Amino acid sequence: MTCLCLPSNRSLVMSVPPAPMSVRHHLRKATADLHAALDGGFGALDLKKRSDYREFLAAQAAVWEPLEDWLSRHDIGRVLPDWPRRRRASALAADLAALGGAADFHDIVMGTPSVPAMLGVAYVLEGSRLGARYLSRMIAESDDAAVSANTRFLHHGAGLPLWPTFLETLEAHVTDAAGADEAVRGARQAFAHFLTAQQRHAAVLVAEVA
Ligand code: HEM
Repeated sequence: MTCLCLPSNRSLVMSVPPAPMSVRHHLRKATADLHAALDGGFGALDLKKRSDYREFLAAQAAVWEPLEDWLSRHDIGRVLPDWPRRRRASALAADLAALGGAADFHDIVMGTPSVPAMLGVAYVLEGSRLGARYLSRMIAESDDAAVSANTRFLHHGAGLPLWPTFLETLEAHVTDAAGADEAVRGARQAFAHFLTAQQRHAAVLVAEVA
């Protein structure tokens, strides 16, 4: 009789090949250090306070519009047709203006605008909607109406399936290892621009307080 038993030193679980990681999970893992640094930097702010909320918006505004413009210039709309409704720079500028601030745009330097690299940049912008949900709940508790009433940016796209549909596009267009590397490169560059902006704003804040 033929025995179908596994060799005694191998488990059935080990014989199943691991499921391939989605591009999204690959990006999340490959940018976790930069997201944590950004989150940690902004963590020093009390977003219920008007001045801190303004700094939070101003730091992001410095690179948000330049990154959106870079994506538009390189025609991200050919793979993400609803790109115009995803843009949030004007919502960010409106919140910032209502709090008496204005964006000081940075010159951004980006690499080759391949489709995967652009989707890596868009991953950073679109993914931040997830954190925005959490931050909106915190800001809604502010006693300052100038803070709680100016959440166009954080609430942008609420109720629309922008994140799941973005993920479908990401997975459809980044299909091999070279594409995944390009997407990681774009996402890390975008995060690095946000970190630079956040650190510059933190330095200005420290100088003002000192
Ligand atoms: C105080 C600042 C921030 C906090 C507390 C924060 C928090 C979070 C949280 C809690 C999530 C996961 C939400 C979920 O899974 O439902 C998330 C996801 C994400 N955030 Fe942030 N975030 C912050 C700032 C930012 C900024 C400025 C960016 C980029 C512009 C960003 C990019 C992302 C991305 C790309 C994801 C998606 C990660 C994934 O694939 O799951 N975050 N954030």
